[in-house]
Amino acid sequence: MAAALRSFYFCIVFSAYCFSFALAEDDSQFIYNGFAKAELQLFGAFVHDNGLLQLTNTSMQYIGHAFYRFPIKFNTSSSQSLSFSTNFVFAMVPRSGYYGGHGIAFFISPSTKFSGTVTAGSYLGRFNISNHGLPTNHILVAELDTVEHTEFQDIDEDHVGIDVNSQISVDSAPSAYFSDEDKKNKSLALESGNPLKMWIEYNGEEKLLNVTLAPIGIPKPSRPLLATSIDLSQILLDSMYVGFSAATGSDHYILGWSFNKTGQAQNLNIKDLPSLPKPGDNTKHSVKPSLPFIVLIVAAVVVLTTIGGAVYVVRKKKYEEIYEDWEREYGPQRFSYKSLYKATGGFKDTEIIGKGGFGKVYKGVLPNSNLQIAVKRISHDSKQGLKEFVAEIVSIGRLRHRNLVQLRGYCRRKGELLLVYDYMPNGSLDKILYGSMRPNLNWFQRIRIVRGVACGLLYLHEEWEQVVLHRDIKPANVLLDADLNGKLGDFGLARLYDRGSNPQTTNLVGTIGYLAPELLKTGKATTSSDVFSFGAFMLEVACGRRPMEPGEIDLVDRVIECWKKGSILDAGDPRLEGIFAEEQMELILKLGLVCSHPNPAIRPSMRQVMQYLDGDAKFPDISPDSNVIGAFTETNEASNTMATFSSLFESSSSHTMSTIDSIIISGR
Ligand SMILES: *[C@@H]1O[C@H](CO)[C@@H](O)[C@H](O)[C@H]1NC(C)=O
Ligand SMILES: *[C@@H]1O[C@H](CO)[C@@H](O)[C@H](O)[C@H]1NC(C)=O
Ligand SMILES: *[C@@H]1O[C@H](CO)[C@@H](O)[C@H](O)[C@H]1NC(C)=O
Ligand SMILES: *[C@@H]1O[C@H](CO)[C@@H](O)[C@H](O)[C@H]1NC(C)=O
Ligand SMILES: *[C@@H]1O[C@H](CO)[C@@H](O)[C@H](O)[C@H]1NC(C)=O
Ligand SMILES: *[C@@H]1O[C@H](CO)[C@@H](O)[C@H](O)[C@H]1NC(C)=O
Repeated sequence: MAAALRSFYFCIVFSAYCFSFALAEDDSQFIYNGFAKAELQLFGAFVHDNGLLQLTNTSMQYIGHAFYRFPIKFNTSSSQSLSFSTNFVFAMVPRSGYYGGHGIAFFISPSTKFSGTVTAGSYLGRFNISNHGLPTNHILVAELDTVEHTEFQDIDEDHVGIDVNSQISVDSAPSAYFSDEDKKNKSLALESGNPLKMWIEYNGEEKLLNVTLAPIGIPKPSRPLLATSIDLSQILLDSMYVGFSAATGSDHYILGWSFNKTGQAQNLNIKDLPSLPKPGDNTKHSVKPSLPFIVLIVAAVVVLTTIGGAVYVVRKKKYEEIYEDWEREYGPQRFSYKSLYKATGGFKDTEIIGKGGFGKVYKGVLPNSNLQIAVKRISHDSKQGLKEFVAEIVSIGRLRHRNLVQLRGYCRRKGELLLVYDYMPNGSLDKILYGSMRPNLNWFQRIRIVRGVACGLLYLHEEWEQVVLHRDIKPANVLLDADLNGKLGDFGLARLYDRGSNPQTTNLVGTIGYLAPELLKTGKATTSSDVFSFGAFMLEVACGRRPMEPGEIDLVDRVIECWKKGSILDAGDPRLEGIFAEEQMELILKLGLVCSHPNPAIRPSMRQVMQYLDGDAKFPDISPDSNVIGAFTETNEASNTMATFSSLFESSSSHTMSTIDSIIISGR
């Protein structure tokens, strides 16, 4: 029965389609002050006697669409021909006893047909799990979204968004307009029941899509709400339908609509617009006779059969994520977007605890376990290498060490990757080291942090199944737990990062001042270049100063200078006020210098560093005037000194220098 109805329905759509060709004239512009005589294709929507277009009908709780009957001709090979201008007046009237609607979407789509699948009822009736987000959808949407007012606690204001081929906005803003009178933004409640006006304008040459909102009765604000750079030549096809869609809940009305491809769409004549039904007005809505009543009924039936899926999908919209078959094996590490969204209070700005090269970091609490987490949002636009990317993340998630920040899992959305870490209550070391907090870290705490980080790095280099390079060791990437234990964060990400941007080339990742000179030359990271960064890090923690600061002598040179004067301890952080174990300070400073030696062959391995820190090996007695230390300033002598100095370290370990040029993870 359902199948029969559906084919019947398609027949009708099909004949409407053929009919449209017969009538097509100048389809590039129209203006409707009320829809009494409008050329529309309606699905679930209907036109009142007074010309008011109603997209949804509360009592039926269905989804309504209304299209301009004829396709609009674009010429995708000429950017100018992609320009269009449209404006319309709409109203969303909530009904008591209902949740409220999900808003109205203006859209441009290659067809007016539903796919007829379970997800046909989703916002546009065109996205489902398999085609969501695909460029072959060719759909552009400007949505007036009120979804937060429904089943989710009011998290955001109403907003206006632009969506391309999917239901995830490429750009959005809280609904507001710029008041030219008061020279400031004023917010607008979309679902107030009052008519509002919206302008959508695209300039094909500037490739700029402007969306402007305002109450009716005031002229178009001089500043748009959204001005989004977007190239529609990849999105539009030569023949596209324009229309509206709305789903469930409120009564969604369109009062008038003007569209123009050849110039600016004329303004609607507010006086001629149909009035909205008065609250409690139950007058019968008669269906416009030009549209067979049966289409409405059948469309409603088709839509109703899919309503379960529809409501589900619309609710899911906010939490949409990408999940592919190959991710199945990562089940335990895969977080749902919904849980992360809830954990972080909807990624509220107030929950941001850090911003880095990779993206913003949010604090959150997982709803079920009350576990405190930090969620890092990384934008990731390349499809290439994504599988390896995720495989590496999962692999990194298997690293377990008390001096590494635990990566618990990930979640994937379109263009975005979210990484879930344990939350570190004391934040990053650099914030404390250079923060205004007094007293600053004492010597005992600093030594423990240095030792902890060394321990974590040793694990990455030598104690796990594979060698993992950190590639960006610095105080900003060392996080402190509640007991001020130092934990290395962001390990392996540097590598992932350059794969994400371009898998063919290796970008130099790291931070100036912590980058080994040979890495700058060759671009090849090694365990030894990590040791270099660790050396710079050690000196920084002991001296309370960054490796390089504008207008100041480099930290390494300052330490050597003090050493040569016979007072190496003077290089220590003055904020320690002389309270530290002198032997330890001396060791940290000298070890730091040797680790950040310009010649990689002279640097010790992390295992040796650990042995010196723990007193299991005696740090060799070097004189500051030895040509080894001299080599810091006269790098051309480095090769001469290499042989003698590396012998100093040979006694304590048989470790040979690693020249692995990338992290090897997950069996690649
Ligand atoms: C909803 O649609 C049905 C069927 O078209 C109609 O009978 C009913 O009056 C409408 N209700 C409202 C509130 O518009
Ligand atoms: C589309 O634009 C191109 C480039 O301006 C032009 O050569 C072509 O004739 C146009 N096609 C149509 C159907 O107007
Ligand atoms: C998704 O929609 C497309 C086009 O609308 C359709 O061809 C495809 O079969 C649908 N896939 C699923 C899984 O429903
Ligand atoms: C008004 O809102 C727009 C869009 O959200 C924003 O770019 C602009 O800075 C705001 N202007 C003022 C004066 O607040
Ligand atoms: C869009 O808005 C910008 C200002 O934000 C303006 O410069 C531009 O001309 C506008 N474009 C259109 C097509 O209205
Ligand atoms: C479309 O733009 C042209 C050129 O500016 C103008 O003459 C015409 O009146 C406009 N039509 C509508 C319906 O806005």
